[in-house]
Amino acid sequence: VTPAVRARAVAVGAVAVAALALAACSDDSPSILDHHGPEARHVAGVWWLMFGLATAVYVIVAGLVIFAILRGRRRSQPSEGEAGVAAASGGPSESAFIWAGGIVAPVVILAVLAVVTVTTTRDVRRAQPGELQIEVTAKRWWWDVRYPESGVVTADEIHIPAGRPIDFVLRSDNVVHSFWVPQLAGKVDTIPGQTNHLRLEAETPGTYLGQCAEYCGIQHARMGFQIIADSPADFDRWLARRSGAGTGPTSEPTARGQLVFMREACAGCHTIRNTEATGTLGPDLSDFGSRQWIGSVTLRNTPGNLADWIRDPQEPKPGNLMPPTNLPPAELDALVAYLESLQ
Ligand code: CUA
Repeated sequence: VTPAVRARAVAVGAVAVAALALAACSDDSPSILDHHGPEARHVAGVWWLMFGLATAVYVIVAGLVIFAILRGRRRSQPSEGEAGVAAASGGPSESAFIWAGGIVAPVVILAVLAVVTVTTTRDVRRAQPGELQIEVTAKRWWWDVRYPESGVVTADEIHIPAGRPIDFVLRSDNVVHSFWVPQLAGKVDTIPGQTNHLRLEAETPGTYLGQCAEYCGIQHARMGFQIIADSPADFDRWLARRSGAGTGPTSEPTARGQLVFMREACAGCHTIRNTEATGTLGPDLSDFGSRQWIGSVTLRNTPGNLADWIRDPQEPKPGNLMPPTNLPPAELDALVAYLESLQ
């Protein structure tokens, strides 16, 4: 191996490491190290402690390996005498080294990690005064979101007030999923027949990507959600708009769209508040027009994407519970206009 080849290999390695580091920072894959709340800060603290300890162990072991290689080479060069072999086999200091490095150090490191992990878990679970309760139920493959105090129901996009502690009450009506918003908290499983809690607080307004973190079927990867932290005033406005009576269709096409929605199978699976649509199999669509995504962070919410989704939701998200629809183009357009008008 020539020095030039070695230099090139080192350069390629450095570029690969830099690319990986940058990839970890993209918006699509939020990092737990980019924390935006007290719970996430605790979790990141544990991560850094683990990283620090693992790095120290790695550096010490790698240093000892290099030291042993160099010492062995030096010994074997001039005179491969009996004296050298005797000295290398070592005496009591070598067994002390094994006790310290092989037993005492691992026990101390694991004990520190155990104590820190258990106390951190206890701290992030503690109930906070003034917390807002939000019920989230994991569905196949989306998230049902309810605000019990106000009766507001939505899906996949969870608005919270920034600066206020939130108590998520987590359930599942099918298999085990896991509720995870890397920038705001650790993950907690949603388990059928059991109620779990996840507490978090967003310190600043912003949009934080969440993801199901437990394999739950073929659309596990497309079981995303968002936590949208609003300023307290914006959050109150958001909630008030949804707890009011709701407005009916305001134009001819949206009125026609509403008729199509109620006549077709849509109303049997979806709820739109203050209408005859009270289905519970699919997400509540009462504020669909204000949402950013279709199908739990699968498609951007645009009229074109919505028409494609209604025509064949199995194409972008195979296996989900919504069947394809075969509507005349004019009716499909009216239906899209109606759904996009819902706020
Ligand atoms: Cu739900 Cu993975």
